[in-house]
Formats: sequence, structure tokens, C-alpha cells
Amino acid sequence: MINRLYLVTAFGFLGFAAYVLVAEKDPKVPEDIVHRPTPIPDRIILNWHGDPSTTQAVTWRTDVSVKKPVAELAIAGDGPDFIKKAATFPASSETFQSDLNTAQYHSVRFSQLKPGTMYAYRVGDGFNWSEWNQFRTAEQGLAPVEFLYVGDAQNDIFQLWSRLIRQGYSEAPKARFIVHAGDLVNRASRDAEWGEWHAAAGWINRSVVSFPTPGNHEYGSKQLTTHWRPQFTLPENGVKGLEETSYYIDIHGVRMVALNSNRMQKEQAEWLDTLLSNNPNRWTVLTFHHPVYSAARSRDNKELRELWQPILDKHRVDIVLTGHDHTYARSNLRTGLSTREGTAGTVYVVSVSGPKMYNLDRESWMQRAAENTQLCQIIRIDGDTLHYEARTARGVLYDAFDLNKRQGKPNQLVNKVPQTPELRRQ
Ligand SMILES: [Fe+2]
Repeated sequence: MINRLYLVTAFGFLGFAAYVLVAEKDPKVPEDIVHRPTPIPDRIILNWHGDPSTTQAVTWRTDVSVKKPVAELAIAGDGPDFIKKAATFPASSETFQSDLNTAQYHSVRFSQLKPGTMYAYRVGDGFNWSEWNQFRTAEQGLAPVEFLYVGDAQNDIFQLWSRLIRQGYSEAPKARFIVHAGDLVNRASRDAEWGEWHAAAGWINRSVVSFPTPGNHEYGSKQLTTHWRPQFTLPENGVKGLEETSYYIDIHGVRMVALNSNRMQKEQAEWLDTLLSNNPNRWTVLTFHHPVYSAARSRDNKELRELWQPILDKHRVDIVLTGHDHTYARSNLRTGLSTREGTAGTVYVVSVSGPKMYNLDRESWMQRAAENTQLCQIIRIDGDTLHYEARTARGVLYDAFDLNKRQGKPNQLVNKVPQTPELRRQ
């Protein structure tokens, strides 16, 4: 017995020694070094917290050594002299403990900006600065607006989502904002995944506003990930208790509403009904994570559909942008009532931008569908027309339609689906 114990201990020790040797030779840089905060600002991201024509929020991260975080802002000029007119704004900061490190998140909310104006800003502490970045405030009133929409990024974000979001940006470099329909990351309590998400989009997030809504993966435990609120600066004009996850902004005659489909669906239904009862905008676009019409039979969200679709029908919401199903499926005009499909209602989209792929159950309501395809959507609203395009990670046009507003009548949908085969899992 003693001999056997001795042998087991000896082998255990040898195994441990071998592990240490291999581990020491492993050249992979540990996550806590890759994603370590420094005094140099990183994870810089634009959001709106209020009227996009007069406000702009910027949020960034540093280590805890930074004592006087500030942003500088000036109206951008054609040459470099604009910096002489820069004003300084102190940031509000919070210390944030992640699974890897202690950092600080800082934010500045610029307000009283001039509409339709290009501004330049940088963030730092008086010693270490970001580059000067540019953004343009929205016009007051009607003007064309273009934006990107992506479904779940979620997995292998740095390796395989980067090319998708960068290709999307190259297709629409004047896009004002990017809608992220939930599941931005997989394990939302892991700092490394958020580090990948910020790095994948890179400087795009410093000049194009992000408009995110959380998915089930931002709710790893029962609570919204603690990363969410420090790293974004979003409107707090939604349902009480869902600050910065249910909210809206109005831009160029479009009401953009983000709902949080993970929680408090009933309260949001009431809130949405009131919000859309008093909507002076021509167009209404909604985003949330869980689809109203799922792309797979086993993934139906019946409760959500029964609660929310009557309100979407009542207020003639134009288009609903969702994720969660890791496939692509786009409807005709649909209502929850027995109106003949295609003549009235809302366009429903499920899309995916990251590399995780599920199977699709092909249904007749799908005007275009895909499996195993990373997609980015480009939406341009100009007067009475909404132009929609879905493009693959290579930039190839995969789906398209126009939605036309008609006086006193439901929208008209004109399909422009390219004559290419539907992409399916081999
Ligand atoms: Fe999901």
C-alpha cells in the first residue's frame, strides 16, 4: 500500500514538473498582460446620451494611475490650427474591478454642440493623449441618415469578427452609428472578451457612434454584466431599472429604439406603447436581441412576440433588427393579424456577424435566408425610402430591398434580392 502511494505521489510530482516545464515554454502571452490597462487611453468609444444634433458622449479606459482625466474638443478645421481653440472638459470616472485587473472608466458628455458640425476630440490626462478623432453632429430636422447593423459578434471576436466590422465600415464610411443587436461577447464577465471587442472595431468606434443592446450573453449570471454601464455612456430615457439597455434617440426623422429583450418585457411593452404614441418621426426602427420570428423552430420566442408584436403593429414600426439565432432570415411585411402577408406590417430581420453558426429551418416567410455566413447590414434612410443591404464578410451583396413610405397607406416593400444561390451549410 505504501509503495503504491509512493508511486502515485512520484508520478504526480513528475506530471506537475512536466506541466511546469511546458507552461514555462508556452510563448502565449497571458490575458492579464494582453488586456492590461495603462495610462494611455484605450477602449475609446462614442455613444449618444441625448440629442445627436447637440450632444456626444465619449468613454474610455485607463489604469488607476490617471488622476485628472479630461477630453478636449474643438470644431474641426481643414488644417491643424483648430487645436488652439480646443476646450477642456473634466471626465467623470469610476474604478472598475474586472476578472483580470483594476481599471478606470472615464466619460465626458459633450453638450450644447452645433448641429451638422464636424468636431475633433481627444482624451487623456494632460500627459498621455489619444489621437484627435472626428465626429459629426446630426442635423436638426430631416436629412438622409445611414447606419450599420450587426447581429451577434460573440465568439473569436478579435480573430474572426474584425474583418466583418471593418468590411462593413468600408461599405458605408459615412455611417452615423452601428447597431449591435446583442451578444457582443460570449462570457460577459471576462475582461479579455471586451478587450477583443474593442480591439476588433479599433478606431471605428472612435468616430462612429455605437448603439448597442444586450443579449442573453451580456447576462451571464442574473444581472447585466458589470462591464456594460462603465464602458458605454447611453441614454437613460427608457424603462426604470433597465437604464442604458432600453432607450431611444431621434435622428433625422428616424426614431431608433433599443429594447432589452432579456428582462421586464411587460414593462417595456407599456413603455414602448407610450413612446410610439407620441412619435413625430417619419420612420421607426427597433432593435433587440431575441427575434420576434425565429429562424429555427426550436428557438421560438412566443411570449415576447405575443407581448410586443401588437404594439409594433399598432404603431406601424418599419423594421425590427435582431440577432440570437446565428443565421440570417429576413421577412416581407408582416403583422400578427391575418392581413395578407406582404401588404402591411413590419420587416423582421435576424442576422449574425460573428463566426458561431447555427442551422436554419427554412420557412416561406423568409424572403432571403442564409447559414454559415457572416453579414453586415447597411441601412440608408432618405426621405420616403429606406434602402437596405446585407453584405457578407467579403462585401458581396447578399440581400437588398427598398421600403417606401406612402401617404395614408402601409409601406411598400420592393425586393432587390440578388440572383445568387442561398448560402447554406455544406
Ligand atoms: Fe443570444
